[in-house]
Amino acid sequence: MNIAVYPGSFDPTTNGHLDVIERAAGIVDKLIVGVLINPNKTGLFTIEERVEQLKASTEHLPNVEVRSFSGLLVDFARSINARIVIRGLRAVTDFEYEFQMALTNRTLAEEIETLFIPTSAHYMYVSSSMVKEVASFGKSVEGMVPELVQKQMAEKFSGMDPVTDK
Ligand code: PNS
Repeated sequence: MNIAVYPGSFDPTTNGHLDVIERAAGIVDKLIVGVLINPNKTGLFTIEERVEQLKASTEHLPNVEVRSFSGLLVDFARSINARIVIRGLRAVTDFEYEFQMALTNRTLAEEIETLFIPTSAHYMYVSSSMVKEVASFGKSVEGMVPELVQKQMAEKFSGMDPVTDK
C-alpha cells in the first residue's frame, strides 16, 4: 500500500492546496495531509481550525486523512508508514527551497522519496500569505480558497488591522 504525506502549514488552506491533494489522492492508496504544529510561528488560524478546514474540504476524498504533527517531517512520515512526501510546485521560485527540503529529508531518511506535483496553471499565483493579505483589506478571495475559509477569514479580519508583512 502506497501511503503518502502532504505536509504544510496550511494557514489557510487554498484551492491550490486542494488541487494538489486531489491529484495526489488519485495516484496513491492513502494520502495523509499533515499540518505542522510550529511553536515558533503563530498563524492566523489555530491548528484545530486548519485541520477542520482541510477535513471539510476533503470530505469527498475517501483515501485522504488530515492530521497535525510536530517535530521532523521524516519522523511523522515514518510513524504513519509513509514512504512518499508530496509537495506542490507553483513556480521556479519555489524550487530552491523545495529542493533543499527534499535533500534534507532524504539525508535524514533515505527510504522516503519526495514527489513534486506542479500546481495547475489556474492556481499558480495563489499562496496562503497572498490570500491573507488580500482578505485583510476586506477584498474578496473567492475562487482562491474554499468557501468555508472565505467565511472564516472574513470573521477573523473584521475589526483587525490589515496584514502587510508576509
Ligand atoms: O506550507 P509550508 O510552510 O511551506 O510547509 C513547510 C513544511 C511544514 C513542509 C516544513 O517546514 C517541514 O517539514 N517542517 C517540519 C520540520 C522538518 O522536518 N524540517 C526538516 C526539513 S526542512
